[in-house]
Amino acid sequence: MNTVLTIAGTDPTGGAGLHADLKTFCAHGVYGMGVVTAVVAQNTCGVLAYDPVQPALLAAQLDAVFSDIFPDAVKIGMLPDTASIQAVAAALEKWQARRVILDPVMVSTSEHRLQHADAAAVMAEMLFPRCELITPNLAEAATLCGFPVTNRSEVERAAETIFKKYGTSVLVTGGHLENSCDDLLFDGNGPVWIPGHRVETENTHGTGCTLSAAIAANRARGETLRDAVAHAKSYVLGALSRSLNLGKGNGPLDHCSAGSTGR
Ligand SMILES: Nc1ncnc2c1ncn2[C@@H]1O[C@H](COP(=O)(O)OP(=O)(O)OP(=O)(O)O)[C@@H](O)[C@H]1O
Ligand SMILES: [Mg+2]
Repeated sequence: MNTVLTIAGTDPTGGAGLHADLKTFCAHGVYGMGVVTAVVAQNTCGVLAYDPVQPALLAAQLDAVFSDIFPDAVKIGMLPDTASIQAVAAALEKWQARRVILDPVMVSTSEHRLQHADAAAVMAEMLFPRCELITPNLAEAATLCGFPVTNRSEVERAAETIFKKYGTSVLVTGGHLENSCDDLLFDGNGPVWIPGHRVETENTHGTGCTLSAAIAANRARGETLRDAVAHAKSYVLGALSRSLNLGKGNGPLDHCSAGSTGR
């Protein structure tokens, strides 16, 4: 059984964050584990409040996992502040974690800040060098490269800038592009567009979390990074096409229908 760890914030309504990651792992037939970075009061309508887990308790959770069931791959999501970034960076170094995929969550779709403004630079400096892939959306890519990212040519320029600036492979996700939902992967072999098509649904809660969790699951199963990304993209597309009209806001994906891993 391949093992995957998510290090992320919670979503008590089960559509995003650590809860969505565990469902995604289950759908991929891998053994899922979860370390909580922040307890988040959120639902399909937005984020109401959150509280970071104390750094010592975060470090203890990480030690508990790595000393017992060593993960074949790791997904990192919400890191609320500098202290949590430092705790995660120290644990990844201490345990020599492998196949780390980082979703640099900064601001929720509902415009709620999920990471202190001063933490992005620390995250880039301390964590990006330990990751094999980061998966910013358009807004996060803009923060990382320092210019607006709103169309395909800006996505191409941003991905190359981020790859060169931080020396880590990057998947700029295009869920907020105007006419398509293609994502751009820039790795050591240059850029490649991962094509998708837009599913006309309001029920998109947790798409970014789900995508990065699926990439980590596929990497744990030994797929190449390019295959892991392409298969994760089709998994998200399937889960979005079956998305669930639950809640009063943007409903969740259907993570767990039988045969849902896109293959
Ligand atoms: N309506 C849609 N139809 C098809 N694919 C979509 C749609 N919305 C998002 N995606 C895909 O979902 C994945 C996540 O993309 P997105 O850019 O929306 O992330 P995000 O903004 O970080 O999401 P979240 O707010 O859930 O964190 C990408 O592969 C993107 O192409
Ligand atoms: Mg996101």
